[in-house]
Amino acid sequence: MESKLKPSELVAIPVLLALLNLGNSANAVPQVPCYFIFGDSLSDTGNNNKLVTSAKVNYPPYGIDFPQGPTGRFNNGRTMHDFIVKLLGFEDYMPPFAESEGKNILNGVNYASGAAGILDDTGKHRGVRVPLNDQIKNHKTIISRITALMGNNSAAKSHLSRCIYSVQIGSNDYINNYFRPESYDTSKRYAPPEYATVLVQQLSNQLKAIYDSGARKFAVYGMGMIGCTPDARSVHGTKGAPCVEEFNEGATPFNKRLEPMIDQLNRNLTDAKFTYLNPTGSTDGLVWDSSCCKTGGGGGELCLPDSKPCDNRRKYLFWDGVHPSDAWNEVVSKSAYGSEKPEEAQPFNIKKLALQ
Ligand SMILES: *[C@@H]1O[C@H](CO)[C@@H](O)[C@H](O)[C@H]1NC(C)=O
Ligand SMILES: *[C@@H]1O[C@H](CO)[C@@H](O)[C@H](O)[C@H]1NC(C)=O
Repeated sequence: MESKLKPSELVAIPVLLALLNLGNSANAVPQVPCYFIFGDSLSDTGNNNKLVTSAKVNYPPYGIDFPQGPTGRFNNGRTMHDFIVKLLGFEDYMPPFAESEGKNILNGVNYASGAAGILDDTGKHRGVRVPLNDQIKNHKTIISRITALMGNNSAAKSHLSRCIYSVQIGSNDYINNYFRPESYDTSKRYAPPEYATVLVQQLSNQLKAIYDSGARKFAVYGMGMIGCTPDARSVHGTKGAPCVEEFNEGATPFNKRLEPMIDQLNRNLTDAKFTYLNPTGSTDGLVWDSSCCKTGGGGGELCLPDSKPCDNRRKYLFWDGVHPSDAWNEVVSKSAYGSEKPEEAQPFNIKKLALQ
């Protein structure tokens, strides 16, 4: 059917187009020139795909809600950092280091690797992974490529100093190390508070190494409630409590030491800005005590290949036995980006870190 426009509507259309154009992120300049991602499976977007490991997910039903299907992201859709880079005004997601090529590295690179930890040993029973120390080496490779692309050392240095460096790691140092005494001896060597001290000390050296390669804006994440995942609850039992208390109590000293360490780094390295993030959100109306997909893949916590997941995926906090869903990642990304609560973002949220 032919549509007939009244004169008044003809006037309205150019105005509408102009408004749409204002909101078009393709024309917007991102709030920082680049965003680099260090971490584990919460952030991995494909670095493990070609590694010999049981911690990889480039198979359906992963990616069922992602336009490109299974990419190596450990959920049905987008990671929290996928959402954050969009909130920062980037047009594209950051490429995984394993697939980075050409000029796409100028906006940032994702080094994160499933099963990786702060400690080199962490996750070794799962196979090959890229521990944080190796992610930092990979970053140095990228810096030389960026310097070559920009053709000017001081321009590259200035570019890299204005980027955000996101570091979200530590869960595997517990679930794929400390709480797995059959494969690792850390729980025999350290009580939980001592272990947290070892991890946070090592992490502070790693953050300084990233600083030494030119980073000046850091977003460092606390650890989530590792005792509340469907996998932890079903494998270890909760003895009537809502979560595995032993696991959550293990994580508590880590966060308690991480936050003051970030505070010290702000005081010690005065030309850099560090922030501590522990974003959360309302779980009202969400299923949090079971996973959306049928688990049993990987080490038991991942989705079974080609299994049919739940239909109402936006209602589930957990996609598989340990990884949050696209819907929950969207909730926490908004909180990391814009929360004014000091327990979620201290001293800056991401939006303010970008302006520093
Ligand atoms: C390198 O970049 C700086 C500013 O970023 C500029 O002042 C300088 O002239 C450039 N040097 C070369 C050799 O292009
Ligand atoms: C900050 O500097 C003090 C004094 O030199 C030092 O004791 C402390 O370990 C430093 N903290 C960090 C996190 O680098």
